[in-house]
Amino acid sequence: MSDYVIETWELSKQYGGKAGCKNITLQVPRGSVFGFLGQNGAGKSTFVRTMLGLLHPTNGRAVMLGYPIGSVESRQKVGYLPELFRYPDWLTGTQLLEHHAELCGLPKKERKTIIREVVEQVGMAGRERERIRGYSKGMQQRIGLACALLSDPELIFLDEPTSALDPIGRKEVRELIAKLRDMGKTIFLNSHLLSEMESICDHVGIIHRGELVVHGDWRKLSAVQPQIEVTLDQTSEKLQTKLPSFVTDRHLIRQRGELATWLLTLDQEGRVPALLSDLIAGGAAVHEVVKKQQSLEEVFLYWVQKKEGEAHVGHRENHV
Ligand SMILES: Nc1ncnc2c1ncn2[C@@H]1O[C@H](COP(=O)(O)OP(=O)(O)OP(=O)(O)O)[C@@H](O)[C@H]1O
Ligand SMILES: [Mg+2]
Repeated sequence: MSDYVIETWELSKQYGGKAGCKNITLQVPRGSVFGFLGQNGAGKSTFVRTMLGLLHPTNGRAVMLGYPIGSVESRQKVGYLPELFRYPDWLTGTQLLEHHAELCGLPKKERKTIIREVVEQVGMAGRERERIRGYSKGMQQRIGLACALLSDPELIFLDEPTSALDPIGRKEVRELIAKLRDMGKTIFLNSHLLSEMESICDHVGIIHRGELVVHGDWRKLSAVQPQIEVTLDQTSEKLQTKLPSFVTDRHLIRQRGELATWLLTLDQEGRVPALLSDLIAGGAAVHEVVKKQQSLEEVFLYWVQKKEGEAHVGHRENHV
């Protein structure tokens, strides 16, 4: 069994030779919550729809759960919550789920129990017998999520799953995603809500103007030099004076009573032990050392701006 549920090689889907997504080479680890991040129109939904066989790739190839995309086998253990879904609104939630259960080929005897379970999972218990016409946007999103979970899929694509949800609903969906991950499932999330993605995604792919900029464990996609916050006695003069050359920048960020907190930028990872030895040898009383974690937003903006910069340089060079 491969460690990846999705592998793509130079996968492209372009509409009339432009837009869409192009040359995407990507691996999604089994059991991860993978965030596919990009601005509006970046190509996220195009990629997902190509993986699901709803669009035919214009180039490249891809394997999903061990089978080439486009094959029935590749889709068998996959759940999907589309982004702009419209269900027949004269149906009740239960009727919609019954239709989906039939389409998924769930055994008749088990359907009732499974439907009850997914309805509970998405927080719709008690409302499932009402017509979809009377559902709020958030409730429609929840029932869509329930459809995606019906077949007990191994891989679940959620295209903007929380766009219509209120803060409590968003939190519930985050918890549901974490629960699904703990059950060993892989969740592929399309979103541009970075603060929300930060707490649930371990791996991300950043897509910009149809091209993949970078992918991997987002905490390791280091955007800037490592930074630490050091709190020490104000009487320690060490930080005002000479520091090792690997400290490339320093700012006093807080003073409280006897204590001062500095933000130090280091030239590379792994410098903290040497820095502490130096401070202590210099007579500083160190109270606290905290590594500053970059936000996903910082990582995202760094890579997108880098890509934009490269595009501009390339553009200018083309005109020389
Ligand atoms: N059916 C289509 N025909 C022509 N162009 C399309 C079609 N669908 C999408 N596009 C274009 O392809 C690009 C990528 O669109 P896509 O819907 O994949 O973006 P997205 O990242 O999902 O955006 P959003 O965050 O707004 O959902 C856009 O420029 C869009 O206009
Ligand atoms: Mg989209």
